[in-house]
Amino acid sequence: MSPSELYMGLMSGTSMDGADAALVQFDEQGCRIVAGHGVPFPRDLYEAVSGLVAQPMSISSLDQLGELETRLGHFFADAALELLEGERVAASSVAAIGSHGQTIRHCPDFTHAFTWQLGDPNVIVARTRITTVADFRRRDLALGGQGAPLMPAFHKAVFSAAGEDRVVVNLGGMANVTILPREGEVLGFDTGPGNALMDIWSQAKRRKPFDEGGAWAASGRVHAGLLERFSDDPFFRKAPPKSTGREYFNKRWIENALFELTNWPSAEDIQATLLELTACSVSEVIADAAPKTERVLLCGGGVHNLRLVERLGELMPTRIVEPAEAHGIASDWVEAAGFAWLARQTLNGHPGNLPAVTGASRPAILGGIYRAR
Ligand SMILES: Nc1ncnc2c1ncn2[C@@H]1O[C@H](COP(=O)(O)OP(=O)(O)O)[C@@H](O)[C@H]1O
Ligand SMILES: [Mg+2]
Repeated sequence: MSPSELYMGLMSGTSMDGADAALVQFDEQGCRIVAGHGVPFPRDLYEAVSGLVAQPMSISSLDQLGELETRLGHFFADAALELLEGERVAASSVAAIGSHGQTIRHCPDFTHAFTWQLGDPNVIVARTRITTVADFRRRDLALGGQGAPLMPAFHKAVFSAAGEDRVVVNLGGMANVTILPREGEVLGFDTGPGNALMDIWSQAKRRKPFDEGGAWAASGRVHAGLLERFSDDPFFRKAPPKSTGREYFNKRWIENALFELTNWPSAEDIQATLLELTACSVSEVIADAAPKTERVLLCGGGVHNLRLVERLGELMPTRIVEPAEAHGIASDWVEAAGFAWLARQTLNGHPGNLPAVTGASRPAILGGIYRAR
């Protein structure tokens, strides 16, 4: 195994379910996941981060924000070290870590656009002694882009096929698509909520972090009036490039739609309607932006929501809908592997963004490099 070709990706998305760490081997054929390790957030860290995301003013002092940056750095470093130890891989054999960090705020459409990920890369490099690449999104933002999604360039590298029109759907907290036509330009954007609203509703009504298998949603019935109100949100009609996050699709967003109804549906009917919203917004985008799509590859935690996967299949009967697994990368590790790939791009001096996707004025080498040696 050529030591220079083993990379690690560290990812924690808008679901805030925990950190995903993936060890990825690159060679001429492409890439292969050597091992993956998922670490849930400890309760206190989850509460600190989610409190900050939901109510930025709840952080009464800058000290708490600063401490959170360091704590998250340790959390990611722990995930990396546990993966190395579990796999008996020496830190010295890993060329670099690509660390996304935890997004606490994503505001690409502000006059002074910004996006903010926490998890101090200095802590990660100090603890792991592996060169760490981090802060991937802000160069793209500085070039007028959305800073997101960043997965399309990676999806293009690993999932495109000369003989087939494909779309990759990442079902994370938010959902994003990468359109991979057999020829022509790659496109990609956020379609809106993935699992986040279902998670929020499940947490609020059942104190469960997510709807296991989508069984609760499956027990309810879609409420047509509510679905119409949800779907009426201008984000769904907005032309790409576009990206979104929890500062937009959150509990308040659900309640605002509910307040317009005279009679509230039952909690499980609301869950069924939120699942339908994710499934319809994804399938409609594919019908509009990539009508020739033959195969839809699903990745992200939403692949475990069996009802959601089933519904996506029902809404796209003429296309093959299957987990990305079938194409060499386990669905759970695709995004972490993408950050390993982005770190490799950066160290090799190659761009990581696609301007047609993010809206940036040019391709750019992304992130800052924190060298171990
Ligand atoms: N067994 C499961 N049943 C239903 N949903 C699941 C299951 N496992 C994971 N999920 C969903 O996947 C989400 C995590 O997906 P992930 O790809 O890690 O998103 P993110 O990138 O936003 O962190 C969880 O919050 C949950 O909604
Ligand atoms: Mg996650």
